[in-house]
Amino acid sequence: MKPTISPSILNCDIADLNGELEKIRNADFAHVDIMDNHFVPNLTWGLPVVEAVVRRNILPVDCHLMIEDPDRWAPGYAEAGAASVTFHAEAAKAPLRLANEIRKQGAKVGLGLRPDTDIHNYVDLLEAFDMILVMTVEPGFGGQPFLESQMPKIRRVREAARSRDLDIAIQVDGGVNRETITIAAEAGADVFVAGSAVFRAEDAYQEVEELRRIATETMHAH
Ligand code: DX5
Ligand code: ZN
Repeated sequence: MKPTISPSILNCDIADLNGELEKIRNADFAHVDIMDNHFVPNLTWGLPVVEAVVRRNILPVDCHLMIEDPDRWAPGYAEAGAASVTFHAEAAKAPLRLANEIRKQGAKVGLGLRPDTDIHNYVDLLEAFDMILVMTVEPGFGGQPFLESQMPKIRRVREAARSRDLDIAIQVDGGVNRETITIAAEAGADVFVAGSAVFRAEDAYQEVEELRRIATETMHAH
């Protein structure tokens, strides 16, 4: 298993989005956080920015929708060309139907879980998803500390996937850096989102390399 590195552009220099994407061209995805000021107390951007990033064609887009009513809005992000679309379990009215619709549009589909959301109600639905996003901060802002309390949730998903022979990715988002990436990889995560760790580093490209190196080492040791 190889790690996937998906830097979050939430706190990059938006005025030079193209330059920022070029800096992380060695990553696997660009993680784009969509916030609507209802599901989370912060507002970012929507479809036009995703379309612009897709058009530049530097990296595939990994959309993280922190919005209400994803049933209504999420398929549009897949249609816009996002490679992966993750919506939140707490916001979706019909997660299975929505997952199918996103797949029909040709994108991978992820299910996001806030830190206080139990995986229990969703273990039986894993087949419908390509990825489970375990949030390791309360969604809404970058730069918060990593919640190690979420590791049992990662382990639980990894065990369920193994026992049912499912090819499912486990994404971890929030407070991921050179130290915490090891903890998440040990627990069974394989897709790593890092915002401030990458964009506040002196050299974003090198930081992506370093995170990938550390995650690869940890995953091989386990
Ligand atoms: C937070 C977002 C994250 C955020 C991560 O709600 O989902 O993607 O950008 O930022 P860091 O890595 O700084 O915690
Ligand atoms: Zn995110």
